[in-house]
Amino acid sequence: MPSALFTPIRMRGLELPNRVVLSPLCQFMAKDGTAQPWHFMNASQYAVSGAGLVILEATAVEDIGRITLGCLGLYSDENEKALTDYVKGMRSYSNTPIGIQLSHAGRKASTRPTWELHKGHNLKPEEGAWDVVGPTAEAFGEGWPVPKELNAQGLTHILDCFVDSTRRAHRCGFDMIEVHVAHGYLLHQFLSPLANKRSDKYGGSLENRMRFPLEVIAAMRAAFPDDKPIGVRITGRDLNVGGLELDDAVIFSRELQKLGIDYVTPSAGNVAPGMILPKIEPGYLVPFAERIKKDVPDLNVMTVGLIVLPEQANEIIASGKADMVAIGRAFMDDPRWAWHAAVALGDAPAIPPAWNRANPKVWPAYPMVHGASRELATGMGHMTRE
Ligand SMILES: Cc1cc2nc3c(=O)[nH]c(=O)nc-3n(C[C@H](O)[C@H](O)[C@H](O)COP(=O)(O)O)c2cc1C
Repeated sequence: MPSALFTPIRMRGLELPNRVVLSPLCQFMAKDGTAQPWHFMNASQYAVSGAGLVILEATAVEDIGRITLGCLGLYSDENEKALTDYVKGMRSYSNTPIGIQLSHAGRKASTRPTWELHKGHNLKPEEGAWDVVGPTAEAFGEGWPVPKELNAQGLTHILDCFVDSTRRAHRCGFDMIEVHVAHGYLLHQFLSPLANKRSDKYGGSLENRMRFPLEVIAAMRAAFPDDKPIGVRITGRDLNVGGLELDDAVIFSRELQKLGIDYVTPSAGNVAPGMILPKIEPGYLVPFAERIKKDVPDLNVMTVGLIVLPEQANEIIASGKADMVAIGRAFMDDPRWAWHAAVALGDAPAIPPAWNRANPKVWPAYPMVHGASRELATGMGHMTRE
């Protein structure tokens, strides 16, 4: 019997061989939105990691929707060609399902990559800063640019960009799409009362604030093949006074399920300054997933946030708190995380044949490197070379 973590899960026509997902991780290494050798090197590692699904970083649906000048985009033929080659390359040595996260940064666009934040968040005009858009002409915070409020024409344009990138993602060969409606980016800005002060049918009540993200996602769903899943990263809580709460996340999840969305991942925060942070400890976002699972039982839920140990990840799945776990920094630290987790849980690790000599079944030093608990899991106390 495989462990709960290494049990397959099917969403539409896509079967994930296990519940371990590479969380989308911005690299800020693209040029004009186009993937570079760095992206290929980076994602290739995860494609041979034994993960059940690899989701590429937040990828902008138009150039002004990039968070930084280095963000990946899927809005030009050049962007599409690079990602097509990229998926094709990975397919030549890996069957791991590969998805892409589509996003628009809205009022949080035109910023610097994390390693340049000491110079300030926002790009200066001479560095290539651009005009940003949002639901309301209100800046994210002090010193941030005031966005242009999207009018009817602007909304149609954004929706068309999401649909266009969806079609491109299919042509690139991606197996699934994740829509970014968290971390304070454009679709989250519409949802949150802290960023959306509109008085038309897209602002005011939760029903109105959900309207634009739901219209976009419905249009994406209609443009993507039926057998390919679409998931949504949502906010479980804004973490600010007066912001979105878990009850809102449950209502939004229910609406997403009605649209045929295959999973949600509740994350949290970053839509407005002044967050009141909870204690950031292992699995701190799991209760959000658990609540959505309980209240929207037919929707798959992925959880994320300081999930670092195989046993921890397995317990989350085995106890039914979530259906999949997304892992970010622990995967950056150990790009073979899923392979090592399989060994720790007594499952068969998915090791490419060329690397099989490092398989714990034939490599006596494995417990020395990975610790005594791994020795127990692999029963390797007596190992000799096969
Ligand atoms: C370098 C870095 C880049 C990230 N980029 C994205 C992104 O593109 N999209 C997204 O939804 N979350 C992004 N996140 C958040 C992660 O996907 C994840 O939710 C977060 O790191 C918590 O999980 P962890 O504790 O396993 O790292 C990023 C996080 C890091 C550290």
